[in-house]
Amino acid sequence: MFEELFTQGEVYCLGVIPTFDVPWEALRAMARGACANSYAPYSHVTVGAAGVSAEQTFVVGSNVENASYGLTLCAECSLVSDLARQGGGRLVAVSIVAGDGKPIAPCGRCRQVLFEHGGADLLIDAGDGAEPTTLAALLPNAFGPDDLGVRRNP
Ligand code: THU
Repeated sequence: MFEELFTQGEVYCLGVIPTFDVPWEALRAMARGACANSYAPYSHVTVGAAGVSAEQTFVVGSNVENASYGLTLCAECSLVSDLARQGGGRLVAVSIVAGDGKPIAPCGRCRQVLFEHGGADLLIDAGDGAEPTTLAALLPNAFGPDDLGVRRNP
């Protein structure tokens, strides 16, 4: 079903296993660079994210806070916007770091946002020397477009 929908260009949840070695060090360096551009005057928790797509396009994002706190954009949302801005594609690996340069767990909302563009197989950086985790482990039984198809009230 995903495949059918994906070819229609309507939904993006189909997962892609990378056919190349994920450049984790480069992703971490880009995430740290993006972190330096974070706008976090309220929480002072700066976050940067970097990802690579199946087409080996690199995308980055930083958190952007707002005086109306609830309107804050997480770094991962910013990264997904960058992906769309560059013409889209399938995310295969993402590194998210805080101001200390170490990986930070994506928040619940961002797990769902990332699922749309990387699917369950998306690799999430767990830090230097640690095995990356998958989005499936962080967001089991994710809600996705297949649910929309079968749960729609006729
Ligand atoms: N933040 C992110 O950018 N991504 C996450 O996954 C967790 C939280 C940001 C939002 C806010 O600017 C700051 O971290 C503190 O919550």
